[in-house]
Amino acid sequence: MSERVFNFSAGPATLPLEVLEKAQAEFLNFENSGMSVMEMSHRSKAFDGIIALTESRFRRLYSIPDEYAVLFLQGGASLQFSMIPMNLAIEGAPIDVLHTGVWTQKAIDELKKIAPYRIVASGESTQFKAIPAIPKFNEEASYVHMASNNTIYGTQWKQFPDTGKIPLVADMSSDILSRRIDISKFGLIFAGAQKNLGPSGLTLVIIKKELAARSNDRLPSMLNYNTQIKNNSLYNTPPTFGIYILGLILEWMISKGGLDAIETANLVKADRLYECIDNNNFYYCPNENASRSNMNVVFRIKGDNQDLESKFVKEAAEKGLVELKGHRSAGGLRASIYNAQTLAGVEALCTFMNDFSLANR
Ligand SMILES: Cc1ncc(COP(=O)(O)O)c(C=O)c1O
Repeated sequence: MSERVFNFSAGPATLPLEVLEKAQAEFLNFENSGMSVMEMSHRSKAFDGIIALTESRFRRLYSIPDEYAVLFLQGGASLQFSMIPMNLAIEGAPIDVLHTGVWTQKAIDELKKIAPYRIVASGESTQFKAIPAIPKFNEEASYVHMASNNTIYGTQWKQFPDTGKIPLVADMSSDILSRRIDISKFGLIFAGAQKNLGPSGLTLVIIKKELAARSNDRLPSMLNYNTQIKNNSLYNTPPTFGIYILGLILEWMISKGGLDAIETANLVKADRLYECIDNNNFYYCPNENASRSNMNVVFRIKGDNQDLESKFVKEAAEKGLVELKGHRSAGGLRASIYNAQTLAGVEALCTFMNDFSLANR
């Protein structure tokens, strides 16, 4: 393929072309430093500038209050499944989980090894096709764990629960910075970068600083939020190139009009794609309407004909529309339309879907 494709991968995912071009232009010589960011010491003045600018853009775009730290870590969102309970679980106070699919299950699997937990709401009875109702929370819980967007099933919380004094911890790996949220409602937000924020290898954590007082000094230094907060994510070598690309992505978001403009564009793309599915009786979306994700659009061909779905994926790829196969555990089809996916990409997919349905009825 000699041209760039429309990439619907769930992650690592498509990045804004303008960002890739800027990174390419400054790849060999970043701002007259005579070197690539990749070759630059994380203790250098130039990199100090990069990380400070990235953090300030991130704080500005997401309106992050001063009492929260923004951390640039490694280990993926998956390490946070262990690191969060290691730091935030209080003895005698279980962790309450809102269970919405594979990614909360992975968090539960780690909790089993680390701290007591309760599942206080679950979408299991709907095979995770719907977001469960918000339960009453237990006053004495250590914290509440949830995933704001379920990358595999294609469901998303449209409203966040009010957990009162109990810290709300949210895995936002697949919808971070896709919509405006009230950060002050959360104790901790975490996300792997490789969907909305850049290349893999960087993990974002936004943590209310007072929560880190719970961290025990006996924790391994690298797994203690205090180490990272005190050292501004520079206790050891952070993923420098990922932080630099995140900075460029944030600059791109600002140039597009900021988070509100990005949120509006995301709604337009998602509405358009669901309309293509709903208005064509060859396809259907298995998820409850009110729970549908604006980031990962899951759909099937009526009758769940797997041969036809494989043909769809293959022929779409031949037309430059790639990575449309559903997750291996869910089957079917999935188009991930994160911030960097264009409306042109969505329109091209809709045209293909229409043509494919006419040719294969
Ligand atoms: C919602 C969610 N949480 C966690 C993860 C795991 O992220 P990582 O691969 O960075 O550990 C993913 C990956 O797709 C995800 O979608």
